[in-house]
Amino acid sequence: MAEVVIVESAGAAGALVADEIVRLINQKPDAVLGLATGSTPLPVYQALHGRLAGTDVSQVRGFALDEYVGIDPTHPESYRSVITREVVEPLGLDPDRIKTPNGAQDGIEHAGDDYEAAIEAAGGVDLQILGIGTDGHIGFNEPGSSFASRTRVKTLTQQTRKDNARFFDSIDDVPMHCITQGLGTILRARHLVLLAFGEGKARAVAEAVEGPVSAILPGSAVQLHEHVTVVVDEAAASQL
Ligand code: GLP
Repeated sequence: MAEVVIVESAGAAGALVADEIVRLINQKPDAVLGLATGSTPLPVYQALHGRLAGTDVSQVRGFALDEYVGIDPTHPESYRSVITREVVEPLGLDPDRIKTPNGAQDGIEHAGDDYEAAIEAAGGVDLQILGIGTDGHIGFNEPGSSFASRTRVKTLTQQTRKDNARFFDSIDDVPMHCITQGLGTILRARHLVLLAFGEGKARAVAEAVEGPVSAILPGSAVQLHEHVTVVVDEAAASQL
């Protein structure tokens, strides 16, 4: 059963989760963080800035959930660039220790297995930050994704391309494909922290936390995990 924490604001959620991450790094200096992109985790990364001053972060490791396929890693909206800009640089992490799936066309057929092997070699993810899409997707595991799935190439749904068009000049520039950790990969992390803010996420949150466990709502996979913390504002909690 997930622990649900309802907070006043996204800022309060960021502070709460950042405190947990700082505790983890103090206990385990080479902690492995699971990093999500999208707007939801930004308050966590912002709250970490400052809280981590004085903490040695040189050993911290991290794995991003997903990446677009076929955009250059230096493109400002590649998830490699986003993680570098929002997490690695402001927090002073070692860029070589923070990994993103390789979305280059060249070698894409083994990029998923390579990423799984790297996570395994790191000893698994200690704390996985998760956002949730309006259709209940986590990472880029769209409705219908297997709960046993591992890192692999997927086709983005039209809805997700539409949701993410705000980061690009037009929807036509949003890539068609992505490489994402699978639901099975995510479920192997030791602690899942799912964040959601705003009314637009209320249905996805309610179905993920309280609805039937079903591949139709990929976020409902979190109900299969024994250590889940759901941190939401009142609007996102409004259908619970
Ligand atoms: C994107 C990402 C997800 C993210 C979700 C929600 O498609 N791949 O990891 O959780 O959409 O995005 P946001 O947090 O901006 O609402």
